[in-house]
Amino acid sequence: MPAEPSCPPLPGSTRDWWRNAVIYQVYVRSFADSDGDGIGDLDGVRARLPYLRSLGVDGLWLNPFYPSPQHDHGYDVSDYRGVQPEYGTLESFDRLIRDAHRLDLKVIIDVVPNHCSIEHPWFVEALAAGPGSPARARFHFADGQGEYGELPPNNWRSIFGGSAWQRVPARSWGGEGIERSQWYLHTFAAEQPDFNWRHPDVSSYFEDVLRYWLDRGVDGLRIDVAHGLHKADGLPDHEHADHDELTGDPVNPHAWNQPEVHEVWRSWRAIADEYTRRTGRERVLVGEVGLLDTEQLAQYQRPDELHQTFYFEFLRAEWDDEALYDVIDRGLGTIARSGSSVAWVLNNHDMPRSVTRYAGGAPGAGPGDLDLGLARARAAALLMLALPGSSYLYQGEELGLPEVTDLPEHLLTDPMFHRSGGVRRGRDGCRVPLPWRAAHDTFGFSPNGTPGTTWLPQPDWFAEHAADQLLVSGDSMLHLYREALALRHRIPALTSGDLRWLPTEPGVLAFTRGDGFVCVVNCLPRPVCNPVDGALLIASDPEAGDKLPPNSAVWILPPDGT
Ligand code: NOJ
Repeated sequence: MPAEPSCPPLPGSTRDWWRNAVIYQVYVRSFADSDGDGIGDLDGVRARLPYLRSLGVDGLWLNPFYPSPQHDHGYDVSDYRGVQPEYGTLESFDRLIRDAHRLDLKVIIDVVPNHCSIEHPWFVEALAAGPGSPARARFHFADGQGEYGELPPNNWRSIFGGSAWQRVPARSWGGEGIERSQWYLHTFAAEQPDFNWRHPDVSSYFEDVLRYWLDRGVDGLRIDVAHGLHKADGLPDHEHADHDELTGDPVNPHAWNQPEVHEVWRSWRAIADEYTRRTGRERVLVGEVGLLDTEQLAQYQRPDELHQTFYFEFLRAEWDDEALYDVIDRGLGTIARSGSSVAWVLNNHDMPRSVTRYAGGAPGAGPGDLDLGLARARAAALLMLALPGSSYLYQGEELGLPEVTDLPEHLLTDPMFHRSGGVRRGRDGCRVPLPWRAAHDTFGFSPNGTPGTTWLPQPDWFAEHAADQLLVSGDSMLHLYREALALRHRIPALTSGDLRWLPTEPGVLAFTRGDGFVCVVNCLPRPVCNPVDGALLIASDPEAGDKLPPNSAVWILPPDGT
């Protein structure tokens, strides 16, 4: 591995690159398979870098590729410094970084500090060491309640459903009979034990991990559940224990958003800034912070903490002009006041795809009205890409992929499905391997002629969304994204101008950026008159002109400003 200071300066290494960047999220397992095992890998990603370059994004974020028993597809990490063999090797990772940088693409990787895998050496050691041992102090082990310790230590629920506590299997430690067996805390699946962030080993371990990957040349880290980490002292019961057991507990005030977590982000920021200064390449920290309160969210991206946090409110908003106006205005107002910029998101690996959401479909409940969903998703893409700040695209979003809502239950792999007793279908439907070539086996996901199938089955209708098909069809979703991203690079107002709302009729949103760029969105199910004159730069619906079709958006350059 080359030592970072000897890296030559990279093109495009400007400060603040992240503020307006468009980053493409690569779910490695499902992006592209180079070796024919039906599972995506790092060499598959590397082979598709030119595709990402021509799409016009500024960088990519890789979901976890670390060694892991894959109980939560890599979010259960057993070695924070390696690569899962089915995804490649450290050498393939280094080659990927090198080639991405040659193409002027930034690389952000995922880091998972709240929990690890039951196969992480520290947890294996803790199980073997027994109650009261120093090794157990790095996690949250506790005695159970009840006469025989048979009840969990408190009433916390796992996000994936069921109790957040798992009892240590009897006799996993020499002599620990069931009557003495402790419990451990897992905010997510039982295979993902939570670290005890009040233990000094944990913070220093992760600072080393951070430096390790920064030395390997990454441009940034996406931080998993960045509002997690610390738990309230004494692990008290959640007072409102009437929360829904099936859907887990995203709001437990003792498990989330503890004030001490901000100290961690300040120390990580100092490390990222040190690398920025030392290497002349700005390194960034992007947090997944699942807080609904925008003011609280903004606290995580103060100038000495994380650079950005994803703004999931945008993804959650209904297709409705008032709902969209509210979340956009709140996001811009609150988050920009923190000195950062908003990271807009319409899709990711945890949510049903936007085409399906806007279509009224859902996993297990059917696809909904996909024409409607696609029209809205196209308009939403133009809306998002016209907003001040950065955007995170999720693989397949540019292909207009709907959710696969009807995967057979016996193939579902998401721990959420199993822990909810099948009530929640989980997230497999947005993780089906991508279609690249309509006429190839596995739609080009694996090398052509590869026997076998992909790790989740692709439906036949994926052929209509294959990248090669969309490239030859002028008004495809892929062209929409490519053209919009090219315009973002060409029109300065799109990356520098403040947003100003324009008056419109109900059901329609319009705003300007800088001098003379306008975005108009018609959220209504009927056509409206286009309220702005000027040159049409791009339209989500080819019929757009003097009239805006239902569920459409346009970008306009007015003749002399507005
Ligand atoms: C958030 C990740 O996005 C999700 O995929 C994962 O299951 C949980 N964190 C647990 O790591």
